[in-house]
Amino acid sequence: MDETQRHETTVPSAARIYDYLLGGKDNYAVDRDAADRLLAVVPDQRILARANRAFVIRAMRVLAEQGARQVLDVGTGIPTSPSIHEVFHAVDRSARIVYVDSDPLVKVHNDALLATTDQVTSIEGDVRRPDEILDHVRSRGLLDLSEPVVVVLAAVLHLVPDAQDPAGIVARYRDAMAPGGHLVLSQFAAHSDPAAMARLHAIADGTPVQTYFRPREQILTFFDGFELLAPGLVDVERWRPGMDAPATRLKITGGVAQKSRTPGSAGSGRSATRRQ
Ligand SMILES: C[S@@+](CC[C@H](N)C(=O)[O-])C[C@H]1O[C@@H](n2cnc3c(N)ncnc32)[C@H](O)[C@@H]1O
Repeated sequence: MDETQRHETTVPSAARIYDYLLGGKDNYAVDRDAADRLLAVVPDQRILARANRAFVIRAMRVLAEQGARQVLDVGTGIPTSPSIHEVFHAVDRSARIVYVDSDPLVKVHNDALLATTDQVTSIEGDVRRPDEILDHVRSRGLLDLSEPVVVVLAAVLHLVPDAQDPAGIVARYRDAMAPGGHLVLSQFAAHSDPAAMARLHAIADGTPVQTYFRPREQILTFFDGFELLAPGLVDVERWRPGMDAPATRLKITGGVAQKSRTPGSAGSGRSATRRQ
């Protein structure tokens, strides 16, 4: 076993814990132990992971049906089905999807599991380094950034501390997007139950996976320069739900927003008109 493999099997990874919570098989005992410890004190985590994933997939269906054909999914996670490219390719086989994750194992899984074509690419990248990701996408011609792109930042920004300027990070993606592109974003919210947040923080203490719960007003600033689609920024299970979802004590909020097609008229996420 080389050092990388030893690290894989001895240190839990956020991507593999999430995979386990979603019912996937691409995880090790160390990840399952970490997730089970988490579930013992915060049993909502599995419901929340599924609600967040279901929100992403519903948002993808809406945008694919509205004509979106390019996606940049940063912090993508280990592939699950239905995946973003499956949703888009059910509508149009020519849609192009780029999956990005900082965990090298995610690319390994993607390369192994995805039928990697010109239409679907998986790369390694750090959400906090938008310029590197965008340069990579541009220079390899993975997406045409002069045309609208859907940027997905789902359940990843709550891993980035305020000191690293998450709003500034989102703004870098926004500024590289053509008008008409969309932002799909979700993150843990500070209106979660205080005791449940405290339990999550206690269990994460001293581990590399820290979660930053943010107030709604701060999350809305991530949508500056976009117009939120109805129903706005809501708990993910309430975003155009297909069925009733159980209430959870921890909350992840999410929204889908469009960069204005009219130069200079993009509204702030806080005051934006909601579009259908
Ligand atoms: C909770 S999963 C979310 C997966 C997917 N976006 C979803 O919402 O279903 C978080 C993912 O973000 C990745 N991640 C964590 N920090 C990251 C960073 N700085 N840059 C890129 N990806 C990161 C993890 O490896 C993991 O795969």
